[in-house]
Amino acid sequence: MDHYLLLFLLLAAALSSASSRIILRILPGAGVPSEDYLYCDSWRLSVETNNAGFWDTIPARCVGFVDLYMNGDRYDSDSQVVAADAISFARSLRLAGGGVNAWIFDVDETLLSNLPYYKGVGFGSEIFNETAFDEWVDLAQAPALPASLKLYKDLQQLGFSLILLTGRSEAQRNSTEKNLLFAGYRNWERLILREASDIGKSAVIYKSEKRAQFEAQGFRIYGNSGDQWSDLLGAPVAKRSFKLPNPMYYIL
Ligand SMILES: *[C@@H]1O[C@H](CO)[C@@H](O)[C@H](O)[C@H]1NC(C)=O
Ligand SMILES: *[C@@H]1O[C@H](CO)[C@@H](O)[C@H](O)[C@H]1NC(C)=O
Repeated sequence: MDHYLLLFLLLAAALSSASSRIILRILPGAGVPSEDYLYCDSWRLSVETNNAGFWDTIPARCVGFVDLYMNGDRYDSDSQVVAADAISFARSLRLAGGGVNAWIFDVDETLLSNLPYYKGVGFGSEIFNETAFDEWVDLAQAPALPASLKLYKDLQQLGFSLILLTGRSEAQRNSTEKNLLFAGYRNWERLILREASDIGKSAVIYKSEKRAQFEAQGFRIYGNSGDQWSDLLGAPVAKRSFKLPNPMYYIL
């Protein structure tokens, strides 16, 4: 082999391994060890793509990573990109008139952020406590996810009817409405919560049944935004589904 080429290849290899060491040192920040950061970033990809399937708590070694992800700029940035994809799809559509063009939004970790609650329970490293979470819901103080609030308003400007479809129960209607208003949401077409007959259904079944009902009522479901695969899967599906990040919990 040409000596200069060999020298060049050796140099390139040395530089690239040096730079990857540097990147790994810089990325973790905030006291997350490099090897945990690398593992947990891969774990998060597996969770978001649904390769991981069901999981009940985040890995203990990933608490620091999820804290950094949620409270740093990354969660907001990832959500902004999802919302930008959604609005560019919405703008590409030629819509019929008459209020039949619908977009479905989930509520928790989609329109509202329960991060203030999850901070207190290790970002999903503790087993979910429904009693404690319901107390938090009743406070009606969850802030908006900024990217979703902007998408919500932009879709309304384009003339979409917004349907809010949540796994929360009918008993939480008042606190949910109060919280949505507190967070800046207005003029939704419907807010659908689980009735007594929906309790015990998986989210996929419950939400698919509701989408079928909306279609039977004449709505065309163009988009669906949710942080859970169970918000988006099942028949009928929206023309496009938009998965927001959520590395804190998984709902079947
Ligand atoms: C769940 O939360 C409730 C209300 O905050 C609390 O009384 C209860 O002890 C918690 N249960 C567990 C297993 O931590
Ligand atoms: C919700 O609020 C209405 C009045 O705005 C009230 O009549 C109703 O009882 C409340 N429901 C619950 C479950 O608190």
